Amino acid sequence: MWDKVEKALAYQEQDTAKAENKTFEKLTVTNLAYQTSDQVIFKGVNFELNPGEKVLLMAPSGWGKTTLLRNLIGQLAPNQGTVQIDNQSVNGYWSKAHQYFGYVNQKPFIFNRDLEFNLTLGQKFSPSELQDAIEKSGLDELVAQKGLSYQVGQAGSNLSGGQIQRVEIARSLLAKRPILLADEATSALDGPLSLKIHQTLLKNPEIAVIEVAHKISEEEKKLFDRVLILGAD
Ligand SMILES: Nc1ncnc2c1ncn2[C@@H]1O[C@H](COP(=O)(O)OP(=O)(O)OP(=O)(O)O)[C@@H](O)[C@H]1O
Ligand SMILES: [Mg+2]
Repeated sequence: MWDKVEKALAYQEQDTAKAENKTFEKLTVTNLAYQTSDQVIFKGVNFELNPGEKVLLMAPSGWGKTTLLRNLIGQLAPNQGTVQIDNQSVNGYWSKAHQYFGYVNQKPFIFNRDLEFNLTLGQKFSPSELQDAIEKSGLDELVAQKGLSYQVGQAGSNLSGGQIQRVEIARSLLAKRPILLADEATSALDGPLSLKIHQTLLKNPEIAVIEVAHKISEEEKKLFDRVLILGAD
């Protein structure tokens, strides 16, 4: 229950931080390490990201990819190293960092309300903005069939796993942040749909993308500017 309230509040805060249309010059991740009381999750992560650049970070399941993304967005503070945006540290500084990041969560939070609310999270968008995000995330068929007032059920029980992923992708596009963090964003989608969504996201010059994945097709890999293999040590 508290977990749910916390997540709902986090979305509320996201709402209020909308708008500004942040831009960035460079994201720099230097010697980043994160550990819990009994385990080093990852260490020695270094990379840079320029506006519009598309980077794929690959590591095995359980390596710490989700934990790494949570460090980038400031939900967790690293034990070593820095996450810098335009030479300013945003280590553990969620309220600052999240203004730059759209986040496709591996386990999206779905409200027991209609499809429209789950896409917009209660914010106002023009019909064309909403339609654009629906198309780019591959939700056009569902919306045409069921309508935006479709009740998605408790934890999205009236949606498939892949449809939940697409709702999460649409949300991240509507948030219009300059860096999209995608956590196994299309793992529940079939090959052709996954490719189509990747083609749309990765050809958009206006957003930079950091995607983490443990499995991805060769064709999709080629759409990225860079592929970094983590956990090879
Ligand atoms: N909140 C937490 N507290 C303690 N340990 C955690 C927590 N979250 C994750 N872990 C541990 O950290 C390690 C990395 O988890 P993480 O979810 O980041 O991996 P991942 O690479 O995203 O895995 P997957 O490919 O399965 O999504 C795992 O051993 C996991 O059990
Ligand atoms: Mg993960």
